[in-house]
Amino acid sequence: MRKTFSKYGAPLAMASVLALALSACSGGSSSGGGGGGGGDASSNLDGRGPITYVQGKDNSNVVRPLVDKWNAAHPDQKVTFKEQSDSADQQHDDLVQHFQGKDTNYDVVDVDVIWTAEFAAKGWLQPLKDKLAFDTSAMLPATVKTATYSGTLYAAPQTSDGGLLYYRKDLVPNPPKTWDEMMSMCSIAKQNNIGCYAGQFQKYEGLTVNASEAINTFGGKIVDDSGKAAVNSSDAKTGLGKLVDAFKSGNIPAEAITYKEEDSRTAFQDGKLLFLRNWPYVYSIASKTDGSSKVADKFGIAPLPGKSGPGASSLGGHNVAMSVYSKNKATALDFMKFMTSQETETFYATQGSLAPVLSSLYSDQTLVQKLPYLPTLLTSIQNAVPRPVTPFYPAVTKAVEDNAYAALKGDKTVDQAVADMQSAIEAAK
Ligand code: GLC
Repeated sequence: MRKTFSKYGAPLAMASVLALALSACSGGSSSGGGGGGGGDASSNLDGRGPITYVQGKDNSNVVRPLVDKWNAAHPDQKVTFKEQSDSADQQHDDLVQHFQGKDTNYDVVDVDVIWTAEFAAKGWLQPLKDKLAFDTSAMLPATVKTATYSGTLYAAPQTSDGGLLYYRKDLVPNPPKTWDEMMSMCSIAKQNNIGCYAGQFQKYEGLTVNASEAINTFGGKIVDDSGKAAVNSSDAKTGLGKLVDAFKSGNIPAEAITYKEEDSRTAFQDGKLLFLRNWPYVYSIASKTDGSSKVADKFGIAPLPGKSGPGASSLGGHNVAMSVYSKNKATALDFMKFMTSQETETFYATQGSLAPVLSSLYSDQTLVQKLPYLPTLLTSIQNAVPRPVTPFYPAVTKAVEDNAYAALKGDKTVDQAVADMQSAIEAAK
């Protein structure tokens, strides 16, 4: 059966898909579970007491200080921080396992922007309405969209993410504007005996991000505006082909096939790469002057290089959501407000160079002076392409990852990989 997915909201077109989504949503918002098998969204709304916050590895060291601050002010509603691994896939699977087990201890969870539809459709996320309403009016619209499913807000935008090009400004005074220009600068990397370019190419969510960026940058699409798989096009082949060629020529070093965000950050800050595609969090870690970074004062930040101008980032980011199974939902909501307040958003930016979701912070002159890349980041986020919005996202991302990986390894031609990607997205359920 063919499924269609919208980039912007609920699944469109196929009545059966829509029916599933709707029944699942009502399961999440009425008592007793319903179609999605979720928990009781009408109970424990006034519950207060200790809660647990679950998030992936705190690479930027922002969560612990925030939790300490909250705990000092709320001795009867203490938060325990459960830190997951630093891999998006493992974080996802851990959450799924605990939701399936109806765990009452996973009160507030960090939800990657791509999981909202799946978790909401399953009835695992507490809708943020009525008594638990959450005000998103000051937030970047693109981030609010990532927290919304079928017209209901299921999470609070926490940090956004847009891809950036980190480059060695001591070796390349003017960063490349296009992909081909960047490739032509790889001779500089050779002369300096370092790798030229890396992103994230291990077979996991980060590869979907990078492959989609290559495809979107060259005019292709993973799904079209109506949500249908649309990747089998010559533009998509050109985009994926650029990554494949770069691996073949060595412009992307062979070991980058094992890279996730942290491996690629480490390679760059150890001075082993001329160019790196990564998220904004890298800025604060790579610019540390305690000796941990060999490039602390030697790198600049530019937009991702594109076809003839800036490239298209995948829209990343993380939202905080409340589990329907939580017993202390009033505390959970207060904690979510605290984790997304203006003060906390400023802290994310200054302490961890994470992308704020509050629009006003991008034009806050004190902040921009401290973090000069903020305007570049805002442009990246505003022009970023969302990954497909669908309750069947795990199957869609697998279709992209598996086939992109096979192409990068040379196990499939680009044509075959893109054709297989298309049929696997169509079959996703
Ligand atoms: C970052 C992004 C997230 C993305 C992940 C992939 O954490 O914010 O959206 O899915 O990287 O590894």
